[in-house]
Order: sequence, then C-alpha cells, then structure tokens
Amino acid sequence: MPHNRTLLITGGAGFIGSHVVRLFVTKYPHYKIVNLDKLTYAGNLENVGDIEKAPNYEFIKGDIQDKPFLTKIFLEKNITDVIHLAAESHVDRSISGPMEFIMTNIVGTANLLEVARSSWSDQHHLFYHVSTDEVYGSLGAEGFFTEKTAYDPRSPYSASKASSDHLVRAYHHTYKLPVKLSNCSNNYGSHQFPEKLIPLMINNIRHNKPLPVYGKGENVRDWLWVEDHARAIDTVFHLGKIGETYNIGGWNEWTNIALVKHLCRIMDQKLNRPAGESEKLITYVTDRAGHDLRYAIDATKIKNELGWTPTIQFEAGLEKTVDWYLSNETWVNAVTSGDYQKYYEAHYKG
Ligand code: NAD
Ligand code: TYD
Repeated sequence: MPHNRTLLITGGAGFIGSHVVRLFVTKYPHYKIVNLDKLTYAGNLENVGDIEKAPNYEFIKGDIQDKPFLTKIFLEKNITDVIHLAAESHVDRSISGPMEFIMTNIVGTANLLEVARSSWSDQHHLFYHVSTDEVYGSLGAEGFFTEKTAYDPRSPYSASKASSDHLVRAYHHTYKLPVKLSNCSNNYGSHQFPEKLIPLMINNIRHNKPLPVYGKGENVRDWLWVEDHARAIDTVFHLGKIGETYNIGGWNEWTNIALVKHLCRIMDQKLNRPAGESEKLITYVTDRAGHDLRYAIDATKIKNELGWTPTIQFEAGLEKTVDWYLSNETWVNAVTSGDYQKYYEAHYKG
C-alpha cells in the first residue's frame, strides 16, 4: 500500500511511546511509522515486539542529541510529521543527575525542531510535542491545571520539559512551524519501567520487599490509563488545531498512600495472601527533594473541542496492570537485572 504520510515517532520503545506506535501502526496502514529511539535503560524493543514485522513499520536506533543523524533520517525517509515522545522521564533521576535531562529534553527537542524547520517548506506537516502536567508546578488542595495555567516547573525534569514546550511554541510563533502540544497527567499500564510508583510497588509486593512511600504518602497524582493517553494523542494529532495545546487527564486523583494500599489489596487476592499481608510491607522513607504536592488536570478543552474522554475506570485498569506484570515475569526480570539493581540500591539506600 502506498504511504501518504511518514511519521517519525521518537521514544517509541519506551512506555507511552510503544503504546502510541502500536496504535498508529495498526490503525493507519496507509501511514509509514518510523520509530526512532536511543534504547536507553527505559527503552526496550520487546515493548514493540508484536508489531516489528508490520509492513508500515521501521525501527531506527538513534539519539535525538545527534543533529546530523536527524537531518539524514528526515531526508532519507522523507519525514512528513513528528510525534515527539523521546525524553528522560523520571523525576528522581533528574534530581540525582540533571544534565542528561537537559541534553535530551531540551537540546534533543531543539535539534528536532531545527531539522523540521529546515526540511519542511510548506504547512502540510505537523510537529506534535508530547509533554507533562508537571510543567504547571504544584497545586494545593483545590483547583486544576488548565491550558491557561502559568508555567511553574519545580524539578529538573519538569523544568526541562517546560523549556522544550516553550521552544516548540516559539518555533510556531517565529517560524510558523505547524505544531501541536499536549500536557498529560501520570500514566499507568503495561510496559512501564519499574522505577515509577505503580510498577515499582507491584514488583516489590511480588517479591516481599519494602514498599518505599515518600514522606507521609499524602501527595496526590491524577492517574490515566496509558492506552487512553495514546487515543488522546491520536485525537489531537488528527483533530487538534495547529498551534494549540490540549491538557489530558483522568479526572482520577489518588493520594499515594491510598493507591499503594489499594494495590496491596489487589495483590493479596492475586497471590492468595491473607488480607492485609502486603500492607505490612509499607515503609515510609525520606521525602523526595522539592516533592510537588498535587497534580490535577482539567481536561474540559479536549473533551468539548475534540470529544476525547478516558474510557477505563481506575480500579479495572489497575487490576489489568497487575495481571500484565504478573504474567510477564520474563520482561520484568530482564529490565530489573543489572543496572536497575545499582539504581535501586543507590536511590533507596537506608
Ligand atoms: P520512558 O522513560 O518510558 O521512555 C522514554 C523513551 O525515550 C525510551 O524508549 C528511551 O530509550 C527514549 N530516549 C531517551 N533519550 C533519548 C534520546 N536522546 N534519543 C532518542 N530516544 C531517547 O518515558 P514515558 O513515560 O514513555 O514518557 C514518554 C513521553 O511522555 C515523555 O516525553 C514524557 O515527558 C511524557 N509524559 C510522560 C508521562 C508519564 O506518566 N510517564 C506523563 C505525561 C507525559
Ligand atoms: P512517579 O511515578 O515517580 O511519578 P511523578 O513523580 O512524575 O509524579 O511518582 C508518583 C508519586 O509517587 C510521587 O508523588 C512520588 C511517589 N513515589 C513514592 O512515594 N515512592 C516511590 O518509590 C516512587 C518511585 C514514587
């Protein structure tokens, strides 16, 4: 089948990227999908193993910090559109080592923008930048982040993402590059690297290891099923207005401690443990430096203007997620061997 668009999806071997790549490869056989990923510790070709032989799919290992390489790929593959997800994504790692976040998230995004600007000569293109709600800072007990909320990033991760968002908007304003952006809340689901809260807790409960809850566990996050995020990206890509930003969220706020306790209850049932057994593993540990108290997205704009809403109830999604981790032990063992152990020991020492 002739391809009428060639999409470069960056970071497509990561958690969210792999779900986006799968959705686009299967739903749009008339698009060619080029998945460009550096395969850092967070990227894994097994995440896209089921679609690797699809005729409209190609994987290229590469680094968005390398501008000459990006120029070559744009030219050789005749890239018409970009969905940019590649990033360093873990707040704790950004606290212990911010430079890689600055290099990939800021310089890498700037490279992609520069190459898109010099390769595309008309408006029949799209640069879609995928970002986070963490750019808006931290909420108190009340209120929500809207698209008009002023940026107030507070971790090296969120500051690097905020910087990349500003660059994308500046390229639209200054050079008329056709762009769209979305800022999403915390995702959960299959293939998430077990450094993030939900898969880390599932893995630790499974192995009877302490469950490290930062501070008092009172911080609040708004959780969204990763496949709902991928659908939202599809919606914004096709229906969103050029130059606009869309907030994506689950209307689904949980304190960390309530969420961890809920996971413990699910795991007790799945592992045939007596009720209350896994909760005994909860261990309160030193709080994250500069820990944002609460994130909550107002997703009214994408609902009213583009008709997107989340589909999966959190309890059902969590159970599906637990089932995925319990039945994919080989994947979990592969990603938690070697460097993961070193990271874990260094980060959770004491
Ligand atoms: P992830 O860490 O699971 O995956 C990131 C991917 O990017 C990996 O495959 C990695 O190999 C690749 N990558 C890293 N540096 C690269 C480089 N220099 N060149 C090429 N590839 C590189 O991240 P994720 O959770 O899937 O997040 C994807 C995007 O969505 C990020 O931009 C993140 O900021 C954003 N986001 C994430 C969440 C969330 O809850 N995880 C929420 C909102 C937005
Ligand atoms: P995380 O999954 O790292 O996402 P983010 O920091 O981007 O929101 O963390 C989610 C919440 O869980 C956050 O408030 C920090 C907390 N947390 C813990 O309490 N213990 C942990 O071991 C981790 C990784 C996170």
